[in-house]
Amino acid sequence: MKRISAIASAAALSLLLAACGGGDGDKGSAGSSGGGDGDKSGGGEVAVVTWWEAGSEKKGLEELETIFADQHSNFTFKNAAIAGGGGSQAKQKLSADLAASNPPDTFQAHAGAELSDYIDAMQIEDVSDLYDEFELRDAFPDTLIDRLTVDGKIYSVPSNVHRANVVWANPAVLEEAGIDPEAQPADIDAWIADMEKVKEAGKTPITIGMAWTQLQLLETVLMADLGADAYNGLFDGSTDWAGPEVTKALEHYEAIKELADTSSLTEDWEPAISPVIEGNAAYNVMGDWAVAAFDSAGKTYGEDYIAFPVPGTDGMFDFLADSFTLPVGAKNAEGAKAWLDTISSKEGQIAFNKVKGSIPARSDLTDEEKAEFGQYQQDAMTSFGEDTIVSSIAHGAAAPVAVSNEMNDACAKFWEGASDLAGFQAELADAAKAMAK
Ligand code: BGC
Repeated sequence: MKRISAIASAAALSLLLAACGGGDGDKGSAGSSGGGDGDKSGGGEVAVVTWWEAGSEKKGLEELETIFADQHSNFTFKNAAIAGGGGSQAKQKLSADLAASNPPDTFQAHAGAELSDYIDAMQIEDVSDLYDEFELRDAFPDTLIDRLTVDGKIYSVPSNVHRANVVWANPAVLEEAGIDPEAQPADIDAWIADMEKVKEAGKTPITIGMAWTQLQLLETVLMADLGADAYNGLFDGSTDWAGPEVTKALEHYEAIKELADTSSLTEDWEPAISPVIEGNAAYNVMGDWAVAAFDSAGKTYGEDYIAFPVPGTDGMFDFLADSFTLPVGAKNAEGAKAWLDTISSKEGQIAFNKVKGSIPARSDLTDEEKAEFGQYQQDAMTSFGEDTIVSSIAHGAAAPVAVSNEMNDACAKFWEGASDLAGFQAELADAAKAMAK
């Protein structure tokens, strides 16, 4: 079985570079104003809203702050981060501030359906012209540009790409349960069988956190059981949320729930994954920002922890991208544009992503630049170039915020035992109705 940790060969990297049209040398920071103090216009504070407020995520933001200070020294970064992984608090606050015409200068959002909320409400500007000014049109892969474009216009600038269908596992715990860490389970049934072995060995099979982490686990089980095409059909009406295929996936989800440690159901992702880091639990499903948490704890990839696609989703890349906006009525629009320049510049993307666990949204990195990244990230770059891209529900790529919020609520009820499987499925189907056009 192929683990994500399989070493990407130089040949595979060259192929990926060729596919992405890159590899012909670093042209340095993109754009007219990047890479120095060229931009002398404007000045003042630039209020940046993210949910990278703590831990490894905060360290990533600090990298961007440093490059911003270097590239645009006439502006001052103002950290307006709002705590809560997955944007669990930030999105609510943003929605209230935007509705009250009190926007920050720029804010973190997700490429894909989530942006449509802000676009429909005319709360963010079309930034297509910046793609020309910063020479970004060829810097990003088409898969990403497609998910950013609405009616021919682009409303945000991505800083990174994350993968959400990743199992993080503690090999020592697996070995104690008689499971070969090298042998990746082929499907959800085989994975559940392994979890049962962990339970028999007296260890925690899988941990889970607050509602959005529950929704993220759910989307990966749906991918595993439905396959990429039928999973995609959940968002265009061609797969029925109330149908038997989804019921089967929910039965798997319920079986995993029965094996999970439910003591962290209201906790954020970092405390929820911590038992895996510490060697007290076998598995956690989390986006690849988790790699930064393991690394910050001094753990070594391939030794202290391993990662593999959620069983049944090998060859699928559960995609999400953080993407920054220019809100309508931003007080410091020039400052926001300077921020968008920094986060899209090669220098900014390399510095930030190395620390964040994500991969650069830009696909024009040289082999040398790629080699600066950790092994997990190099493997993720290869997967992003080769796999079938499917969109995350929990992280705004597949569904608008209103839909993912309702699905979060449905998950929370199910995990707390306040709904049964039939009730859960009915609530998910109900939430999905808002997507039917
Ligand atoms: C964001 C990531 C972040 C994660 C956990 C996701 O929605 O895209 O950048 O690390 O939430 O907070």
